[in-house]
Amino acid sequence: MKDILQELEDRRADARLGGGQKRIDAQHAKGKLTARERIELLLDEDSFEEFDMFVGHRCTDFGMQESRPAGDGVITGWGTINGRLVYVFSQDFTVFGGSLSETHAQKICKIMDMAMQNGAPVIGLNDSGGARIQEGVASLAGYAEVFQRNIMASGVVPQISVIMGPCAGGAVYSPAMTDFIFMVKDSSYMFVTGPDVVKTVTNEVVTAEELGGASTHTKKSSVADRAFENDVEALAEVRRLVDLLPLNNREKPPVRPFFDAPARIEDSLDTLIPDNPNQPYDMKELILKVADEGDFYEIQEDYAKNIITGFVRIEGQTVGVVANQPMVLAGCLDIDSSRKAARFVRFCDAFEIPILTLVDVPGFLPGTSQEYGGVIKHGAKLLFAYGEATVPKVTVITRKAYGGAYDVMASKHLRGDFNYAWPTAQIAVMGAKGATEILYRSELGDADKIAARTAEYEERFANPFVAAERGFIDEVIQPRSTRKRVARAFASLRNKKVQNPWKKHDNIPL
Ligand code: HXC
Repeated sequence: MKDILQELEDRRADARLGGGQKRIDAQHAKGKLTARERIELLLDEDSFEEFDMFVGHRCTDFGMQESRPAGDGVITGWGTINGRLVYVFSQDFTVFGGSLSETHAQKICKIMDMAMQNGAPVIGLNDSGGARIQEGVASLAGYAEVFQRNIMASGVVPQISVIMGPCAGGAVYSPAMTDFIFMVKDSSYMFVTGPDVVKTVTNEVVTAEELGGASTHTKKSSVADRAFENDVEALAEVRRLVDLLPLNNREKPPVRPFFDAPARIEDSLDTLIPDNPNQPYDMKELILKVADEGDFYEIQEDYAKNIITGFVRIEGQTVGVVANQPMVLAGCLDIDSSRKAARFVRFCDAFEIPILTLVDVPGFLPGTSQEYGGVIKHGAKLLFAYGEATVPKVTVITRKAYGGAYDVMASKHLRGDFNYAWPTAQIAVMGAKGATEILYRSELGDADKIAARTAEYEERFANPFVAAERGFIDEVIQPRSTRKRVARAFASLRNKKVQNPWKKHDNIPL
């Protein structure tokens, strides 16, 4: 009996060593943690329960039968983050470069199935050389099994990917279908084809970092949502994110204790809007002043900065924030910002997270690059996302809400529940100057006349009251009381129920 107990301990110790001490040291030398160290940091202390520690691959080609490390390059199981259930897989680069074999894939699929059955998020820590080359199509089949589960889990349980090493070829498509991708600076990269193939096919010379590093994907491609200095920081931020999310789509987001008066008055907001309507101001200031304890978890901070997306808590409840940023491109909507915000709105709606929209938008960005790039279709994504969303929607117009962009940004007409405006709001088809130049083209030579016409237009439309008279704005509110009004609005919407008509699925303009 004693021998058997000892054998278990020996086997466990062997499995925990993965590809051996030499490779663990090599992993550390690259500034990376091992797969197990990562899990330890991600989960609550002593909460990890492992599955399939002794699973080995079944490949006999290329002499593979000689080396069958326990666990087969991925550690899987479940544990808790601040007491809440999550499932996790962590690829072990020390075992065949973390490459994905048939059995490695089966281990991932097992915990994904459990996560779906039990309604809990899946967190994938990716560090892999891709398909296990020795296994050929069996490995490709394994990837496809994971992909299918990513698709089925989408909108059912939150899926979070952390890229902590290589992620190349078709392997990128599993993270790509998850809700959030985090990357670690300088030690992770994602690309469909690597620098060598790129050189052969297009003659471009590019490093792995330039092609698919964290900076590329958070600033240029928008594939990744956030980038971090190291593994430790990335994992700590995953914990913060999980804290904000419901465990599944049938649960409400968690409500945390809060230490901030919901009715807090912020006098400084009364002077946030500059006198000159063309002068920018930082919309983040408003977000921080509305949020509990000034805490804002931003998503895609470095991409399409003309729109801000992220999570706050209001009275302890998670709220998704979408806000135009007048500091960048005057807060215009364009292709990138529409796509960014549309995806965020759809995530919130899928997981019952209420949406706060802060509007200061002079319209859609004009130009051939926008039109040729399909701003019509991409702008429609955001419009569609807001219109189909059934979660509580509270909107505050701080300044400009012009043209189609007024409609798009969670207007009353797209089933906004509370549509507030500050007294500084201007809700119109376009700005005064553009409008008078069109309406009074024949008077353009006479500067005085045009100035008078512009003033007349401003007097009529550059305010929130025309919209308020029609009920398109529910109330014009004092800027200083925004947190209080927004908090009360969301509190009144806690039991909101709206259902869209039955359909197989919609046909959002992709
Ligand atoms: C089997 C692999 C492997 C793989 C790495 N290894 N990738 N074994 N299949 N895909 C092994 C190496 O043989 C080595 O074993 C160990 O892992 C560490 O690899 P190194 O090359 O020494 O590490 P490093 O220098 O850090 O380079 C890492 C790497 C490189 C850039 C990932 O290994 C590499 O280019 N690997 C191949 C990547 C690739 O082409 N994958 C297929 C992509 S296509 P030893 O025993 O020496 O330690 C794909 C299709 C998916 O994935 C399709 C889905 C639909």
